[in-house]
Amino acid sequence: MPTPADGEVLLRHDWLGLAPAARLRMSEAGSYSAPTALGEVVYGQAIGTVLESRHPDFAPGDMVMSMRAGWQCFSTAAGDQLNRIDPALAPPPVWLGALGTSGLAAYIGLLDLGQPIAGETVVVSAAAGAVGSVVGQIARIKGCRVVGIAGGTDKCRVAVEEFGYDACVDHRSPTLADDLARACPQGIDVSFENAGGVSRDAAWASMAQGGRVVVCGLIAEYNDPQIAGPGWYTLLTRRLTVRGYITSDHIHRRDAFIADMSGWWRQGRIRMRQDVSVGLESAPAAFIGMLQGHNQGKVLVKL
Ligand SMILES: NC(=O)c1ccc[n+]([C@@H]2O[C@H](COP(=O)([O-])OP(=O)(O)OC[C@H]3O[C@@H](n4cnc5c(N)ncnc54)[C@H](OP(=O)(O)O)[C@@H]3O)[C@@H](O)[C@H]2O)c1
Repeated sequence: MPTPADGEVLLRHDWLGLAPAARLRMSEAGSYSAPTALGEVVYGQAIGTVLESRHPDFAPGDMVMSMRAGWQCFSTAAGDQLNRIDPALAPPPVWLGALGTSGLAAYIGLLDLGQPIAGETVVVSAAAGAVGSVVGQIARIKGCRVVGIAGGTDKCRVAVEEFGYDACVDHRSPTLADDLARACPQGIDVSFENAGGVSRDAAWASMAQGGRVVVCGLIAEYNDPQIAGPGWYTLLTRRLTVRGYITSDHIHRRDAFIADMSGWWRQGRIRMRQDVSVGLESAPAAFIGMLQGHNQGKVLVKL
């Protein structure tokens, strides 16, 4: 059992949130964070209960979200690495999903970088996933036409029926590029990229003049060497903007995000799917399944 130092708390983890970001750390190829060393705990966020506190802002029994909890049942954390959660507003798992980093990534990427205008067409890959489903719903709230790209007819149906997408196309279809072009007759104003690979290429071909490409993730390329991207000719002629971002660089936007997202959640305008497995020992299979597209929504482990 770890012991908290001055300014730290001891946490019991109740829920782990699994994220593709852990896969990037399982490689020595250059990334935005240091690789996980052999023998080190795997990266992951958790909702936990404070068991012991040596920080003035936290007391035993408080529920918090820890950014660097890791795949384990207990951890110590400095107070400034914790966010208090409000279980009266939403159940704990939601604070790892729509009200957590997945939602924050969606909010920053779509609103700050994509800057959609009502009436514009927004395309989202991994459309029914933890980040993608929130992007789609915020874009609808902002009055956009929203088209998803997802793996299989089942996920496409969920995207339309549960998350309010206007249309959704299957990235496994051999006619993906044509299907997407048909679903976006005015072209794509904002392409929110979660997947990369064939989804990226299909969206690129349909970008409208002045379109914005927001690169949130490239999950199709995490297991393989990166795939060569499209040339710059389209970027020039259609006056496109391409922006990559990492959510932790925009953490100052969290208060605005929580204010907006809490309101939308209370009004029932945001839904979230959870893909829950039980026990720490279930984490590796759940994680691998997510990287193969077997998950339906935010992947969580109940401890
Ligand atoms: N920039 C940031 O700060 C930031 C923060 C959070 C997340 N992200 C990124 O956001 C993306 C989504 O993360 P998430 O946590 O919301 O996961 P998620 O979408 O809930 O789950 C991953 C999904 O990716 C899709 N996928 C997996 N392999 C694929 C492949 N080979 N080709 C196409 N799609 C594939 C699958 O959906 P389908 O079955 O629909 O294909 C799968 O369900 C990831 O790329 C992640 O790295 C970035």
